[in-house]
Amino acid sequence: MAHPVSPYLEPGFYDDALAKGRHRDIVGGRWDETGRIQMQLLRDAGMQPHHHLLDIGAGALRLGCKAVPYLHPGHYWATDASRALMLRGRAVELADPARLPEDHLIEDATFAFPGVPQTIDFAIAFGVFTHLPPASLQTALATARPHLCKLQALLLTVFLAPPDRAGAAFRQADGVVTHPGRPPYHSTGDQVQATASAAGWAARPSSVILPRGQALWILN
Ligand SMILES: C[S@@+](CC[C@H](N)C(=O)[O-])C[C@H]1O[C@@H](n2cnc3c(N)ncnc32)[C@H](O)[C@@H]1O
Repeated sequence: MAHPVSPYLEPGFYDDALAKGRHRDIVGGRWDETGRIQMQLLRDAGMQPHHHLLDIGAGALRLGCKAVPYLHPGHYWATDASRALMLRGRAVELADPARLPEDHLIEDATFAFPGVPQTIDFAIAFGVFTHLPPASLQTALATARPHLCKLQALLLTVFLAPPDRAGAAFRQADGVVTHPGRPPYHSTGDQVQATASAAGWAARPSSVILPRGQALWILN
């Protein structure tokens, strides 16, 4: 059977999962742990309550349910291929949804960032490009560079494989098997570096260990 380019492109994927109340499962579970890790990464990068955050591929607000109470009201913005998923997170997972205006949740499956203000200080894409073909990261970085002109740091997770093993399936340290041409995708560090610099970003890998063996890169 042919593999989809992305699991999120399966027809009815979001509708089915939301109808079953499975908004947490769509983003991979490990809800509290993964949200806490993302908050810590952003705080380590220098994010403070007065900053504006863009959560790219935010899903059901696994990070948002922690970032919204931390940031000043209205300082959290999010994009995702499914606005319904983000709205479900806002309705069900936020202690005080009024701190997050609905129009800060932007449906954007092409990384065009429509309506995202240029005041964004920090951005994060956690577990997003791990599920998408390399062209998506190229597009996102090229579009974000001129748009997010105030940005201090963009935190990005990817799966890496060593150059001599990147052409085939590769088992990550915690057991996840990643692939060069289907999800979950891996690339080499040189490829990440080249994609970032082609779009005008300086990129450096972090040594932080992340769930499922993802690697963190910090771009600015
Ligand atoms: C593994 S989840 C991670 C969600 C969130 N970053 C988190 O850590 O909870 C991947 C997310 O990427 C979103 N996504 C998939 N394809 C996308 C696309 N083309 N554009 C924007 N978001 C996309 C999915 O809807 C999903 O919410």
